[in-house]
Amino acid sequence: MSSTDQKGHKRDYQIDSENKISRRKFLKLSTIGASITAWTLTMIGLLKFPKPALLPDVSNIFKIGKPEDMPVGTKKIIEDKKVRIVRDGDGIYAVSLICTHLGCIVSKTSKGYQCPCHGSKFNERGDVVAGPAPRGLSWLEVSQLPSGKLVVNAGKKVPAGTKYVV
Ligand code: FES
Repeated sequence: MSSTDQKGHKRDYQIDSENKISRRKFLKLSTIGASITAWTLTMIGLLKFPKPALLPDVSNIFKIGKPEDMPVGTKKIIEDKKVRIVRDGDGIYAVSLICTHLGCIVSKTSKGYQCPCHGSKFNERGDVVAGPAPRGLSWLEVSQLPSGKLVVNAGKKVPAGTKYVV
């Protein structure tokens, strides 16, 4: 068999019948290749599942400043974290602004919080005043780093009324 390349040179080819791949062999190799690919992708997926139980999700932990930056009476909302920070005479605490009904973000009112989605109301402490929210707003852990900065762990709830004493 012969053919002409782009420059017009003739080339001869010889089909080697021993190098031909049979349909059966092709299917067998395809199956093995697909199996290896599927196994590899499954293993990659499984490696992503385990999370270390001792290490908290760092994306939930954020700094809120030093205690001296928050005098008694400080009340501030950290919009992007959906958290309200309050310092009163007993300590500092953080309340989640995520409604316990279906997860809408509550708004601060003069008497507490109100959910725009289904009308749940919460008092200043985050306790439910009117449903359908099944429970009060979550209080989140506040702690202090060795550097003196306070941090909130939005992934760790604490009993309502728990304040970090500074
Ligand atoms: S999500 Fe807040 S009341 Fe439904």
